[in-house]
Amino acid sequence: MWMLQINNVNDTYGKCEEIKPLSGSVIIFGASGDLTSRKLIPAIFNLFRRNLLPDSFYLIGMARSDFSDETFREKIYASSEKSEKFSEFLKRIFYISGDYSDQTYYLKLKKRISELDKKFKNNSNHIFYFATPPVVYLPIIKMLGHAELTDEKTGFSRVIVEKPFGYDYNSSLELNSELHKYLKESQIYRIDHYLGKETVQNILMLRFANTIFEPLWNYKYIDHVQITVAEKLGVENRAGYFDSTGLLRDMFQNHMLQLLSMITIEPPYSLDANAIRDEKKKLINSIRPFDRNNINSYIVRGQYSDGIIDGKSVLPYNRETGINSDSYTETFVSSKILIDNWRWSGVPFYLRSGKRMNKKLSRIAIVFKKVPHYIFGNELNTEPNVLLLNIQPDEGFEFMVQAKQPGSKLCMNTLNMKFRYNPSDSPDAYERLILDSLIGDQTLFVRDDGMGISWKLFTPVLEDWAHRKQNNLFYYSSGSWGPSESEALIKNDGRTWIN
Ligand code: BG6
Repeated sequence: MWMLQINNVNDTYGKCEEIKPLSGSVIIFGASGDLTSRKLIPAIFNLFRRNLLPDSFYLIGMARSDFSDETFREKIYASSEKSEKFSEFLKRIFYISGDYSDQTYYLKLKKRISELDKKFKNNSNHIFYFATPPVVYLPIIKMLGHAELTDEKTGFSRVIVEKPFGYDYNSSLELNSELHKYLKESQIYRIDHYLGKETVQNILMLRFANTIFEPLWNYKYIDHVQITVAEKLGVENRAGYFDSTGLLRDMFQNHMLQLLSMITIEPPYSLDANAIRDEKKKLINSIRPFDRNNINSYIVRGQYSDGIIDGKSVLPYNRETGINSDSYTETFVSSKILIDNWRWSGVPFYLRSGKRMNKKLSRIAIVFKKVPHYIFGNELNTEPNVLLLNIQPDEGFEFMVQAKQPGSKLCMNTLNMKFRYNPSDSPDAYERLILDSLIGDQTLFVRDDGMGISWKLFTPVLEDWAHRKQNNLFYYSSGSWGPSESEALIKNDGRTWIN
């Protein structure tokens, strides 16, 4: 295959200014946890380094672990870069230990907030980040409400809620209704970090800032679409969470469905958060529901067995630390999805995601139809055009076209036109999303109705699997592309996965 490298041609590239929020602080519940140290602190520090945090910024960590401000700072410092800038950042970090279900904990928080607001001249603007296990979301929101910390008398009070947002349709409705007792929808930021990835945001630009794709973006020209989110990692140290969650809840109901929506929504009338989220809602509503009597023809679940990753033997899922040997939790899902609307009628969308797979790859492949009448002779290349949107790694996109190969008169080959982002240009998804929440832009966050309908789609599947237990759970070798039943899902339609 030939390759063509494309460079940016517009000299405004890299000069777009970010908006610096005027004021705000962040209070993280779950501050001693993995998400805080791995993602949130590095993202917030990067915003600080880029001078994108408000001058009034400070951060309070909340958790049970018994730290003082000093010992919490030391813990953060131990796992971060050692620089003067970071030491400066640490001066804005505080910590309160306590029990999430104890109202006095929130009174302490309120007092601390009022002192720090004065010290840093923060105009009562606060973000409460729920980075805890979801079982404590309800007590936290209730206690924050009772302490009047969710009121917006002077400044803003917003909450960022991590996934999983509920574990099925009813529980997600319940969580929404609890949140709405204390907060308006405009105060709630349901985070899906995939929406913060540069390459995912670029889908909207690619589709709606160019004229060449949209006329082709429908059932007349697109044969099918594949969405793959594969990881080499296994369950790691998250057994407790993952074994009671499974891959469908962990990846499909949120990240995979968001990717599907970005590819398939109708053009919104503007970039306004609600304009985009209205289109997403319409789209998810038009996905054909899974037929309870025929679920297995449309969705395959698997669990990894032993195998080789990066040249090393790895354990099967049910022998990983913290996992029961008879666990039937799925670590892989692939599915065929149909969208019953005018644009996508008859176009299959094949989605797959799994742990312990062959490589780390998040990619959307738009496979166009073949030409209707081929004049170049059968023996020559008849490959379709494919647009690959690489979410990670090799962030960017590729477009495969057929072109003449120099030499013999009728020699043709696939030409790959590639655009790659420079990885250092791409801030982490959490940076984008935390910055947006401080600015008050909800575009990349999930609205209550969008959350409800996405759970509604997958709840029948979850119920079916809970009923079947081990039946219809297929095993795949670690380091492979999933169980053979997933290959069959697409092969039965005369197509193959693009790996
Ligand atoms: C998280 C899931 O939301 O996304 C994890 O809980 C998964 O299980 C992760 O590993 C993948 O994210 P990324 O950004 O590494 O593709």
